[in-house]
Amino acid sequence: MARPNVLVTRRIHPDALHMLQSVAEVDLWTEDRPIPRDELLRRVARADGLYTMLTDRVDEELLEQAPRLRVVSNMAVGYDNIDVAACTRRGIPVGHTPGVLTDTTADLAFALILAAARRLVEAVDYVRAGKWTTWSPDLFLGYDVYGSTLGILGLGRIGTAVARRATGFGMRVLYHSRTRHEEVEAALGITYVDFDTLLGESDILSIHTPLTEETYHLIGAAELSRMKSTAILVNTARGGVVDPMALYQALKNGTIAYAALDVTEPEPIPADHPLLSLPNCIVVPHIGSASHATRRRMAIMAAENLLAGLEGRQLPYCVNPEVYTHPSH
Ligand code: NAP
Ligand code: GLV
Ligand code: GLV
Repeated sequence: MARPNVLVTRRIHPDALHMLQSVAEVDLWTEDRPIPRDELLRRVARADGLYTMLTDRVDEELLEQAPRLRVVSNMAVGYDNIDVAACTRRGIPVGHTPGVLTDTTADLAFALILAAARRLVEAVDYVRAGKWTTWSPDLFLGYDVYGSTLGILGLGRIGTAVARRATGFGMRVLYHSRTRHEEVEAALGITYVDFDTLLGESDILSIHTPLTEETYHLIGAAELSRMKSTAILVNTARGGVVDPMALYQALKNGTIAYAALDVTEPEPIPADHPLLSLPNCIVVPHIGSASHATRRRMAIMAAENLLAGLEGRQLPYCVNPEVYTHPSH
């Protein structure tokens, strides 16, 4: 019997690749950059399974070129790069990688919180530039993290993991989310507030929602203007949740004090983007889940999803399980 064809859009951990190769013919894009759109559309025509990165767009146009496609497996927990409704209409299950990257991403969020509050990047640049000539009582004064108020926007897996870290730093933790999570409130001693209160009371506001129609540019000029002038904005969710030009104006005018971003809009952020001209904005290149161990776990989880899809089993981590209850064919 012919082995199924799988298109993998980027080099992945060998343990995951071997899992796929043991049952399928694997077409692997090996270059060190995302697969170009035309190449993706050309190669997907033969694919029974598609293993994607968050840099690949899966939409109507792609699905129309993919008559054999039976499963899409995204090596990420976020799936805003995928038109899930379009996949569901075709009965194609979509997989993602929840949980395995939660603590790794929360660690990075906390690294950004500390780096921004204590002006770490400016200070490192200063030493490297040979400017450290003496100790000074007012050199690189920042803000205390301990004892400050952390606002979590989106109390899901990662938001909760950041809140847990914050309790160890003696922070007061507020959150706003679509749903109230009373069991997490009780377990961690954190407090639910409305969106306006979160904006107004947070010394540090950390974003952990997915990017959806509701969260697109959720943080814009009006929201930034309600924040403290000493506030720090941290985004490890998706760039599109924050209006980048509104953030630029707020940082430049002193509406808020600092921003630390792992994700941007657009992504990658161009080197001449206004945000990168500001001393009070630090940007890292979407490395939230980038630990050796976690990227391996993500790659394997995505391979498990893909193999389940090829075999007609329910994906262990499925974004649209409704494909199984309302099969379109
Ligand atoms: P999750 O468990 O689904 O948490 C997302 C939370 O946001 C949920 O609690 C959710 O709803 C809440 N939410 C959704 N829409 C909202 C809205 N309009 N307003 C307020 N809250 C809303 O997902 P996760 O695993 O924590 O991941 C969160 C996101 O982080 C992912 O979608 C991804 O985009 C991003 N991410 C980035 C990196 C990185 O490398 N930087 C790594 C991993 C993930 P409820 O309140 O109803 O629970
Ligand atoms: C990374 O950004 C993810 O969504 O897994
Ligand atoms: C600083 O290094 C101090 O000793 O206070």
